[in-house]
Amino acid sequence: MPAAYKIIDHTYDAVVVGAGGSGLRAVMECAQNGLKTACITKVFPTRSHTVAAQGGIAASLGNMGPDHWTWHMFDTVKGSDWLGDQDAIEYMVREAPAAVYELENAGMPFSRTDEGRIYQRPFGGMMQNMGEGPPAQRTCAAADRTGHAMLHTLYQQSLRYDADFYVEYFALDLIMENGACRGVIALCMEDGSIHRFRSHNTVLATGGYGRCYFSATSAHTCTGDGGGMVLRAGLPLQDMEFVQFHPTGIYGAGVLITEGARGEGGYLTNSEGERFMERYAPSAKDLASRDVVSRSMAMEMREGRGVGQHKDHIFLHLDHIDPKVLHERLPGITETGKIFAGVDLTRQPLPVTPTVHYNMGGIPTNFHGEVVRLQDGNPDSVVPGLFAVGEAACVSVHGANRLGSNSLIDLVVFGRATGKRIADITKPNTTHNALPKGSEELALTRLDHFRNAKGGTPTAQIRSEMQRTMQKHCAVFRDDALLNEGKDLIAATYNRMSDVGIQDRSMIWNTDLVETLELDNLIAQAVVTMNSAANRKESRGAHVNEDYPDRNDGEWMKHTITTFTGWGGTGGATAIDYRPVHDYTLTDEVEYIKPKKRVY
Ligand code: FUM
Repeated sequence: MPAAYKIIDHTYDAVVVGAGGSGLRAVMECAQNGLKTACITKVFPTRSHTVAAQGGIAASLGNMGPDHWTWHMFDTVKGSDWLGDQDAIEYMVREAPAAVYELENAGMPFSRTDEGRIYQRPFGGMMQNMGEGPPAQRTCAAADRTGHAMLHTLYQQSLRYDADFYVEYFALDLIMENGACRGVIALCMEDGSIHRFRSHNTVLATGGYGRCYFSATSAHTCTGDGGGMVLRAGLPLQDMEFVQFHPTGIYGAGVLITEGARGEGGYLTNSEGERFMERYAPSAKDLASRDVVSRSMAMEMREGRGVGQHKDHIFLHLDHIDPKVLHERLPGITETGKIFAGVDLTRQPLPVTPTVHYNMGGIPTNFHGEVVRLQDGNPDSVVPGLFAVGEAACVSVHGANRLGSNSLIDLVVFGRATGKRIADITKPNTTHNALPKGSEELALTRLDHFRNAKGGTPTAQIRSEMQRTMQKHCAVFRDDALLNEGKDLIAATYNRMSDVGIQDRSMIWNTDLVETLELDNLIAQAVVTMNSAANRKESRGAHVNEDYPDRNDGEWMKHTITTFTGWGGTGGATAIDYRPVHDYTLTDEVEYIKPKKRVY
């Protein structure tokens, strides 16, 4: 039994965990519909990782050339390497223009065309005419600070409604009863108090788990706390082997340089000064999809044509672009280039390398944000009371590879859809049944366990071991031997959690304790990622196993469903199952997009 903690109780119609783009949009929708709504967030809302998104938000507005939502749909399905669920993709691309206009009406400071319309730039894999080309200018931008502009707009909007914000509260675990979610337990990091949120609906908008890798564009807060909670509740995660490497992280620093840089005319070169993307993607070139560009860069480096003393990076050129354009369209990366690479990009190329950026996998949901159970053989049965949105979720609109700028649109479209669903099924201020006895036990036993962890291995050491193993064994190129060794290594690292020792046991602020709880979330997902990757015997999107270089639709056009079973000292254990990619609720305005070879 956990030590006696004083628990402060709250009751809500809806509790949203996370205050990034999807979380805030869900909060707005719930509150607007009269639901008693809370948002729990471990950082101040405008510090959520959405703030770091740069290049833009995709929607077929057609402001800068012809476009159509069916073209956006085709590109997204192709970008996903046919692992995306086409019904969810149809929903997203059709809702996208309205979602962008909604942001515009809310005051989001988009860049503008001379006619005053929202400025749109080309992004990788976004084409006109059902993939035939030329490139579509579909990515709506606020210079190269689109996420910043969007997050501030959403936060300001959410303050208009009557929602309660619990800022710097760390969610510990879900409260589950007979397979349904009844709320969440959280730690207030300001004073160490414990809070029990009873809620008819709990939305996990906790972002990705990029920090299980050594070099990532993700903030240090991206520790996949929702995914960790879901695994501990005995529920599976979906498609976790699909981890996106963004082609242009600053070499050595991991800081993002937006794909918008290539959208504005930037290009990559190798040590011979060659624009090598012309060989790999003769049509889209530097604006092929991210998995293709990252892989091409890795090939160049592998074959000895990387730049620098160790031939371990690539040059991104923007030095041919008019400095006025750089100043207007890409001011943020002009600054980060200077700070993190010491480069004046009006004169010199930037050293870049593929860097972990996004998790296509996550908590499986339908396109109303409801978490799908998947364990009873019925693809439509949901976990009552539990929702997930944004990078934490796997809807799945991104399948095996996400197109740049489809993330911000995913956040607002599905944040809104989730809020709508909750409003449809919940009468405001409905009374709450009593919680089962011991509803706090899972959360508090775990908290107590780590507070009293007196082992010989510091948290930072286990984290570093995990990050290096993931970076080496589960990266852009994989093969059976690498993955199988990776499985053993990551299981051993997980098992070292039983010897973790923490110095600072206080429950207040950035202590060893909170970092250990975050690491506990990360490491379970690292194991699930590695094991799911080792099990997929094909190459699709971001998952390339060189022992099986081709996509194999006959056997592998299916989602991976992985449950973590190795709690305690047997951390390598997972149960892996599969479910078909589905298209059965497409409207009659589109046809299923049949799989074909993916070339750019
Ligand atoms: O390159 C970028 O600006 C990132 C955008 C995205 O991941 O959607």
